[in-house]
Amino acid sequence: MDARDLLRSVRMAGSASGRLAARSAWRRQRIDTRDLPRHGPERARVPGAALDADPAPGGGTVRFSRSTLRIRVAVGGAVFCGWDGAGPEPSYALAGDGPAADARAVLEPDKDGWRVVSERVTVLVSRQGAVEIRTPGGLLLRRELPPRWWDPTGQADGCATRWVQRSETPADARVYGLGGRAAGPRLPAGGYRLWNTDPGGSFVPGDDPLYITMPVQLVVADAGCHLVFHDSTWDGQVTLRDGQEGAGSGHDRPGGCELRMAGGPLRYWVIAGTPARILSGWTALTGRPALPPRWALGHQHSRWGFGSEAEVRRVAAGYRERGLPLSVLHLDIDHLDGNRVFTVDRRNFPDLPGMARELAEQGVRLVSIVDPAVKAEPGLAAYDGGTAADAFVRDAHGGQVRGVVWPGETVFPDFTDPRARAWWGGLYAERLAQGFAGVWHDMNEPVSFAAFGDATLPRSARHALEGRGGDHREAHNVYALTMARAGYEGLLRLQPEQRPFLFSRSGWAGMQRYGGSWSGDVATGWEGLRASLALVLGLGLCGVPYSGPDVGGFTGTPSPELYLRWFQLGAYLPFFRTHSAIGAGRREPWEFGEEVLAHARAALAERVRLLPYLETLSHIARGTGAPYVRPLWWSSPGDRALRECGDAFLLGDALLVAPVLEPGVVSRTVRLPRGRWYDTVTGAAYGGRGQVVLDASPGRIPVLAKAGSVLPVAGADGAVELEAWAPRQGRTGSGVVFSGDPEGWGAPRMERFVSRWVDGEVVVERDGGGAPGYRVRVRGDAS
Ligand code: NOJ
Repeated sequence: MDARDLLRSVRMAGSASGRLAARSAWRRQRIDTRDLPRHGPERARVPGAALDADPAPGGGTVRFSRSTLRIRVAVGGAVFCGWDGAGPEPSYALAGDGPAADARAVLEPDKDGWRVVSERVTVLVSRQGAVEIRTPGGLLLRRELPPRWWDPTGQADGCATRWVQRSETPADARVYGLGGRAAGPRLPAGGYRLWNTDPGGSFVPGDDPLYITMPVQLVVADAGCHLVFHDSTWDGQVTLRDGQEGAGSGHDRPGGCELRMAGGPLRYWVIAGTPARILSGWTALTGRPALPPRWALGHQHSRWGFGSEAEVRRVAAGYRERGLPLSVLHLDIDHLDGNRVFTVDRRNFPDLPGMARELAEQGVRLVSIVDPAVKAEPGLAAYDGGTAADAFVRDAHGGQVRGVVWPGETVFPDFTDPRARAWWGGLYAERLAQGFAGVWHDMNEPVSFAAFGDATLPRSARHALEGRGGDHREAHNVYALTMARAGYEGLLRLQPEQRPFLFSRSGWAGMQRYGGSWSGDVATGWEGLRASLALVLGLGLCGVPYSGPDVGGFTGTPSPELYLRWFQLGAYLPFFRTHSAIGAGRREPWEFGEEVLAHARAALAERVRLLPYLETLSHIARGTGAPYVRPLWWSSPGDRALRECGDAFLLGDALLVAPVLEPGVVSRTVRLPRGRWYDTVTGAAYGGRGQVVLDASPGRIPVLAKAGSVLPVAGADGAVELEAWAPRQGRTGSGVVFSGDPEGWGAPRMERFVSRWVDGEVVVERDGGGAPGYRVRVRGDAS
């Protein structure tokens, strides 16, 4: 028991739930002691010397004395490498059958081994098993050193082969991603665990891992950018080391990464190119992001502990009476009967469908929390149904695995079983009948409260893993991903004409196919505010573009200033939701005094004005994988100073948002990428690649628009109009507008516009000529 465990058990001791959590922790430990394969003797192995190679479409196989390496370059440029015979499938990350091989790329002998030359990258394989990925011009992007395995040599069945893979990157490389990391967006040197974890209570930047971990790294260097994805779902540890230029003797020391995995295949993908190309390649591989319904781009309000229909109505009325826009209200577990999933507390929520109808008339949707754990209670429909469908996770001896979550003693659906997914998906009919328009998946790391040790299922718990069979060591990290699949497919079956709205606390590579995420229980404080932006940026670079934090923080009561700054940031993030814990202070914008209310009102009005732009960005994310919220280096990865900037972001191509992330700020420094940028409030122009100091008094956070951009906004009458920011004299600009089916599957309409100077004025036309067909407002200092 470490110090954190001790603290946890002391905190829990004494209460009934604490006793349950203690019992659960002991039970978990007992099961694992009994059933988990014991680590016996192991033999270390490296690939050994290369023997020969067989070319095949896209690459081929190199045989080493103690392993084989398969290389395949896919159409589009993604490189696959699989050791020990590993192929791309089966994989929880990949969507569909994976890309076809690029038949033009073939393994051929090279000076010290073999090489595969393709359009985007050259892959070099050394005779000792190192793999280099280089640009077509020969610059090194990544060198994977020969791996090392530890093969179990004893009789113990089910013991996994551990492995380690070290790699090198250029000295100037910076790493982003690994899922949702509070320490990001640029990941400092250090260790990062790959094991989805509820930090318990709330988290601050030092806490790692959190709810979403992914073996996905986006690496940015002068030589070029690449994404590397090690496709193993097992527990792992990534250790990043910063490089050093001209270190010591004048030579660069490369950046380094060591990946230690407890099991699973040693295989990885590398996608090289510009950030936009990488995200496009990555989401072609793992699935394009689900398109949220239009209403999910509006402001959303939540609380754990509304407690009654009357309170929900009171909050809705509070928004309405003050003329504050509200799109969605979320109901947390307190609306359930004793926290049981797929039930309703009828005493306090006697007529949910009626309330949902009433709110819908006011333009407000209801979203419901859905936890995976089902109370182990005969007579409860979900428990009886799941038992009859044999849907719950079992231990190695066939007993149902029990845990403890909000409703008390629970069981857990095995979402890695297609039959369990089909059964679970059907349960969402009950949520739809209650009037909910979307779902919020929570506690799906999965959590089982424990007074000590890992607060999740026993590692020895059995899972179907799509029929292959295995245990929780392999299934843990994809538990939420497969739950999202079950929910998404269920909703789609139940109402095929509507795009499901789903977001999930935990997940893994590929989760964007089913929906978005939110930052979980971020601690209320300035650090939490900063971490919440890091999470959104990091997830976006891992292919999950739709996310946002609990505005105001999950715990306690933010100061009016902190609340306002969080609100102002949230207004520019894809998922814009105020939420807080039971017992935490209020989060309605009118609870912090008149001044905050006035400024929050302005932020909400700006959100509404930007909705057509956000909708456009949602379609761009869907079509190309480019996140709405992008790091400042997105279009200038060669700008080293921008790689370190985590305090501002690009919203699409057109806007740069510089939130206030510290107290007492009335102005702030903003580092600008190249180009010309306009302060959207004053219209003043600034030249990029440098820093400017801008007004950040309480009423605003600096937002800049890129010269030449054309973006759709809602005019005062609600009609879409084009906002065109003057290009530089003599230059042109452009923008796209997507407008689509708000909730269904109709193909969106895409329109392109160009702006240029004609006789001293900026004119906006359709690409190819013709009147824009929208009202146009030209902005920015014309000089
Ligand atoms: C944990 C979630 O992260 C939080 O948002 C929610 O309010 C609580 N669970 C209660 O359901």
